[in-house]
Amino acid sequence: MKNYRRYLITSALPYANGPLHIGHLAGVYVPSDIYTRYLRMKGLDVISICGSDEHGVPITLKARNEGITPQEVVDRYHAINKKAFEDFGIAFDIYSRTSNKIHYETASDFFLTLYKKGEFVEKTSEQYYDEEAGCFLADRYIVGTCPHCGNENAYGDQCEKCGTSLSPNDLINPHSTISGSKPVLKETLHWYLPLDRYEGWLRKWILEDHKEWKTNVYGQCKSWIDQGLQPRAVSRDLDWGVPVPVEGAGGKVLYVWFDAPIGYISATRELTPDWEKYWKDPETKIVHFIGKDNIVFHCIIFPSMLRAEGSFILPDNVPANEFLNLENDKISTSRNWAVWLHEYLEDFPGKQDVLRYTLCANAPETKDNDFTWKDFQARNNNELVAILGNFVNRTLVLTGKYYEGYVPERGETTETDRSVLEEISKIRENVESSLESYRFREALREAMNLARLGNKYLADSEPWKLVKNEPGRVRTIMNISLQITANLTIILEPFLPFSMSTLRKWINITLKPWDDAGRDDLLPAGHRIGEPGLLFEKIEDSDIEKQINKLVSVKKANLAATSQAMPSKDPVSFDDFTKIDIRTATILEAEKVPKTTKLLKLKIDTGLDVRTIVSGIAEYYDPAAIIGRQISIVANLESRKIKGIESKGMILMAEDRDGKLVMVTPESPVSNGSAVK
Ligand code: MF3
Ligand code: ZN
Repeated sequence: MKNYRRYLITSALPYANGPLHIGHLAGVYVPSDIYTRYLRMKGLDVISICGSDEHGVPITLKARNEGITPQEVVDRYHAINKKAFEDFGIAFDIYSRTSNKIHYETASDFFLTLYKKGEFVEKTSEQYYDEEAGCFLADRYIVGTCPHCGNENAYGDQCEKCGTSLSPNDLINPHSTISGSKPVLKETLHWYLPLDRYEGWLRKWILEDHKEWKTNVYGQCKSWIDQGLQPRAVSRDLDWGVPVPVEGAGGKVLYVWFDAPIGYISATRELTPDWEKYWKDPETKIVHFIGKDNIVFHCIIFPSMLRAEGSFILPDNVPANEFLNLENDKISTSRNWAVWLHEYLEDFPGKQDVLRYTLCANAPETKDNDFTWKDFQARNNNELVAILGNFVNRTLVLTGKYYEGYVPERGETTETDRSVLEEISKIRENVESSLESYRFREALREAMNLARLGNKYLADSEPWKLVKNEPGRVRTIMNISLQITANLTIILEPFLPFSMSTLRKWINITLKPWDDAGRDDLLPAGHRIGEPGLLFEKIEDSDIEKQINKLVSVKKANLAATSQAMPSKDPVSFDDFTKIDIRTATILEAEKVPKTTKLLKLKIDTGLDVRTIVSGIAEYYDPAAIIGRQISIVANLESRKIKGIESKGMILMAEDRDGKLVMVTPESPVSNGSAVK
């Protein structure tokens, strides 16, 4: 493995148009934070860069919908998201934003350099234009009827009802969301990065030289390259973004995916005047932490931009994660199906590490994964409380009890003692190699093995049974347990920074360098430790139920919002209405009509007579279960033959939006044959 002089860690710049949720943390920011903390503890020169991605059409749309400016939208979410990262201990060296002046300059200069070198191709194409508003329309600004499902509010790029991806030409009756008018096609000039020219180079750089990249990342790159790369437009007709710095390019801005990754560079410039060494010296290792939807931009487009510019180095790795689902459903901002970071902290104040732990232990590293509240509770109660918390608590309480908080002398050691002490370095090495290969779940599992080791050591050696008769032995056991505790504050620090900082206060030490892990003298005999508290608390069923109920109400609200009642029928006169004779009746017998799936043959007491009605409710009602039920029927419907059976009348059913049938029954018993009016 190559030894680098310094590290530049970037984490995908989140869009400043909504708050952050657990999917963001699990996919990008928890792993990048663990990695960065580890490198810092190694004493390496490392900077961690992030910031808000503040351009793009969704931000302008949100502003328009709320009647505010795009700048106001991004100001709001930049502040919220910056705070959420701080609250969760995601320790960036800088959290910048792409609406900064320094970013405008950096992105603009970058474009100009490529422009002057002739790295772009210019092309004219036809785009939808709103003549009333006098502007070109991004796909999202065009709505119309979906040709697949008839949804009248499908967007020019996608129908959110049936999920089909569309182009504006597919829409029936397209209209502009700005003026409502019908858009027309108009010619417009744009700049394209000819990715096709980089194909051979990308093939070598990724597919040959970076075979060590994660399978999901490598696979996506391979499939993009194998499909053949096309020139990509790097400008847009829009009034929110970095203006295209070319004479006569009024009304055009850089495409958000062109300017955003340059945001990493601007943020580094903002952080340090010495920024160039992080971006241009091959002795720097660049690592991009991202989610899987960002792979093509970070592995293909941005590297091609950097190469076209000529003076930049390329990332060494792009450890992209897959997606995290929530309780078996895709996380979705628009459907409010998420655990929002700020809401989590309201419900579980001070429990940042529990979420960090759960999200890392269950990170979607190789495939999409599911976050469930039950798993969250189990990880807390069975792992953090029962293993880590229990070990630390026993060790510190016994030290207080036996030695008034002074670390006892270690005497002669047994073979078990020595193998336990040796195990610490092995665990450190294993954690290291997992972290170096971006396997964070594995790294955490291994780090927790140190707590497991301690727990087992204490349970097996049972100092509480020996304290009377073998005080020397107990001093040794407690000394070793305390060394393990001190080592935990190193090895678990990247994962659980809040709890480890608390634990260090209790044992009265400062943060030690990573390479100290494995030492058996971190707490010298005679060192005084403080009063311990509880590192983790049990999470009760009721806390979890509260969260699950919250999600149930979200599901209900979504269902209500999307359910569209059938349009009403043409009016009828009162006279016409009274012609229909609706009565209450009771089901006397019910049986399935043979060789059908939907039909039941019912014998009904109508108060007027006992008659047969055939009804299509077999999928929803078990014949035996409905005998004796009161229902409503249309009593004077002309009789019909159904499957050879004479059916006299019809049972009134309500049809749910998913087609489910429910009987319309009197609210309390009434005599059969009562008129319904
Ligand atoms: N805002 C993008 C997203 O949330 C990520 C941008 S990463 C950058 O998907 F490299 F472009 F900055
Ligand atoms: Zn549709």
